[in-house]
Amino acid sequence: MQIVHVVGARPNFMKVAPVRAALAGREGCRQILVHTGQHYDAFMSDVFFQQLEIPEPDYNLGVGSASHAQQTAEIMQRLEPVVLDTKPDLVLVYGDVNSTVAAALVCSKLLVRIGHVEAGLRSFDRTMPEEINRVLTDRLADYLFTPSKDGNDNLLHEGVGEEKIHLVGNVMIDTLVRLLPRAGDPGLLEQLRLAGKPYSLVTLHRPSNVDDSEELGKILAALNEISGKIGVIFPVHPRTRQMMRDLHLDKISPTLHLVEPIGYLEFLALQRKATLVITDSGGIQEESTFLGVPCLTVRENTERPITVDVGTNILVGRDMGRLKAEVTRILSGKARTGTIPPLWDGKAGERIADVILG
Ligand code: UD1
Repeated sequence: MQIVHVVGARPNFMKVAPVRAALAGREGCRQILVHTGQHYDAFMSDVFFQQLEIPEPDYNLGVGSASHAQQTAEIMQRLEPVVLDTKPDLVLVYGDVNSTVAAALVCSKLLVRIGHVEAGLRSFDRTMPEEINRVLTDRLADYLFTPSKDGNDNLLHEGVGEEKIHLVGNVMIDTLVRLLPRAGDPGLLEQLRLAGKPYSLVTLHRPSNVDDSEELGKILAALNEISGKIGVIFPVHPRTRQMMRDLHLDKISPTLHLVEPIGYLEFLALQRKATLVITDSGGIQEESTFLGVPCLTVRENTERPITVDVGTNILVGRDMGRLKAEVTRILSGKARTGTIPPLWDGKAGERIADVILG
């Protein structure tokens, strides 16, 4: 069986690694890896390939950044000849980025079967580009691999045939389980004079938070205040960095540390030891739930409700008063505790291989 994996952006890389590895251990399976080039900076892409031990892609389409329509169209145009050449039996797409939906569209028109890893998640918020990508990809996929039962419920509700849906668990957690032992002491803590001290870890890159300078200004002002109580480490995504250039950042406190994006292992090491995490990322809501670290999500909704229902996640919306109040609550020792969702056990990739090779 010939399987093509299509990945493009940072959160895809942690998801493809365990699926590729599981399939590599099975007989009669040839794999081809395509990187669309949606993310191309060394610290958004190369470092993840190295640390996650993913081989060099067989194809790099080098699409780079552009508007949504341009980026999606460019991926489609460059991927079509690769699919025609490689004649896969199945193409696997991951998560909810533009590369995911672009690949699904190309394959569906070429009558190539599609597997969607991380299917069924819904924020029910169509202003998020990722929600559009999720809904469309799930419409087109033949195998829908869900990370949690809410994914199955959403797909059944949308009329997807039950036989296509496979509850396999969370592949991102597979990677975390495998690499946590290698996530040693984060060197950055020494550098920032935070070794042995409590600190909070922040990531923000959603367009709704960072593309509007007023919103971003409000969030940064809140983080500035929070850094008066607990050191803040904030690795800044390129999209957020671009927007920050337009803002006056001269009043940033010395305990609000704005640093460059960091590699997977370093981030995991920092996350594991953090007192709390503030984020708008989907993956970090899941990782913090697994690690038992309190997570405050700066969004009105989440496509990962299980992290709120059973995990450590709290949605604070864009209410900065609420964000600050929740930080104070955590610092006073009243953080909420959680449990790890079923099938977030490091074996989701193997279960996907079982389904595919059946
Ligand atoms: C993309 C995904 C988002 C995911 C995020 C993780 C979509 C719609 N969004 O958002 O779901 O959570 O990746 O990081 O697919 N840039 C660089 N270097 C890079 C990549 C991007 O400088 O390697 C800059 C460019 O200016 C670009 C901007 O970041 O315009 C945004 O990149 P883009 O790929 O469009 O979306 P992300 O915000 O990264």
